[in-house]
Amino acid sequence: MKAVVYEGPGKIFLADRPLPSLLEATDAVVRVTKTTLCGTDLAILKGGVPSVTAGRIIGHEGVGVVEAVGKGVRYFKAGDRVIISCITSCGSCENCRRSIPSNCVDGGWILGNTIDGCQAEFVRVPFADNGLYHIPEAIHEEVALMLSDIVPTGLEVGVMAGDVQFGDVVAIVGAGPVGLAALLAVQFFSPAAVIVVDLDDFRLALAEKLGATHTINNADGQAVAKILELTNGRGVDAAIEAVGHPLTCKLVQEIIGVGGTIANIGVYSQSAELHKQALWTKNITIRMGVVNTTTIPLLLKTILGGKLDPGQLITHRLPFTDVLHAYDLFAHAGQERAVKIVLNVAAQEPAAEADLVELIVRRIMQASGS
Ligand SMILES: NC(=O)c1ccc[n+]([C@@H]2O[C@H](COP(=O)([O-])OP(=O)(O)OC[C@H]3O[C@@H](n4cnc5c(N)ncnc54)[C@H](O)[C@@H]3O)[C@@H](O)[C@H]2O)c1
Ligand SMILES: [Zn+2]
Ligand SMILES: [Zn+2]
Repeated sequence: MKAVVYEGPGKIFLADRPLPSLLEATDAVVRVTKTTLCGTDLAILKGGVPSVTAGRIIGHEGVGVVEAVGKGVRYFKAGDRVIISCITSCGSCENCRRSIPSNCVDGGWILGNTIDGCQAEFVRVPFADNGLYHIPEAIHEEVALMLSDIVPTGLEVGVMAGDVQFGDVVAIVGAGPVGLAALLAVQFFSPAAVIVVDLDDFRLALAEKLGATHTINNADGQAVAKILELTNGRGVDAAIEAVGHPLTCKLVQEIIGVGGTIANIGVYSQSAELHKQALWTKNITIRMGVVNTTTIPLLLKTILGGKLDPGQLITHRLPFTDVLHAYDLFAHAGQERAVKIVLNVAAQEPAAEADLVELIVRRIMQASGS
């Protein structure tokens, strides 16, 4: 089968790999029909996620059709249309039983990290009963794909961890797919204002369309001053960080108001400072973590009820064989007006040529300033 294989910093290839098989009774093998890339995959490609080692099939977001299940799988059978959660969980370990499946001792975020992932024609999903979700007939596969990771992440690690209440003033820093997913989810809680900050005007224009009351391009470094002005010096009630950079970590600390909550979604590949000397008097809360994806069933019902359309985050649809081009588009999202890129896994075409791979990787490394 064709799969996207990470071979070290700056090196990914569309390669031929053997089909996965059932290893445990609780496994399923899923034929992936659609997959996509995440900001975390860009961090992996830059060598920023050391747990991902050479030879790994990457990708942790996908939808597909169950191909086979082990005899311990109760709720899924061959032929079922499913969402593959980015989180694998046994349901029985101490952390699963404490409702933190993202830290399952036998799972967590392992797909496309410590085991082979979803940017492939087939994927093995351990603990299938917990890691797969049925897609209702009325929901389009590509809409369901947004629930593998980004929408639950925006909701759970952004909005819920940010303790957003009706009437709050919320800032979302980072208008990538995850920040924009948080923007969709925050509206369930009727905030008074949602200020979205990014460096990319295309993504900010989309944020406005999706419900931001204010957008700020921080290319001039004035976002803190502008947010303090907008809030009469008070700061925001919830500051959601959806970038993963020391600069934005600092920014959310500078805009948080008294009694507010900072919700950190971003994945950091370097350390970032916490300015306790400026924060301690403000009685604030800081939360961070990996998404549990336990809100997927509620999100499916919300989509069915017509209250949420995460399909609005999709800007590109490409064949899976163009996946390396998709990485290039996603790494140059501003220029390319890209948010979420859906890869349709169907046609079997020849793998990309090596010189194209090199060109794309060079552009991605340049974009990261490496
Ligand atoms: N905690 C979790 O469970 C979890 C799950 C999924 C993704 N993530 C992380 O969430 C983050 C966002 O993911 P994404 O897919 O949206 O990534 P992305 O790279 O597409 O989006 C990041 C956005 O931040 C903007 N940005 C960069 N520097 C900025 C600055 N100084 N000020 C303002 N904006 C700035 C970029 O222009 C971009 O639009 C990543 O770090 C990703 O690894 C975390
Ligand atoms: Zn992700
Ligand atoms: Zn567990």
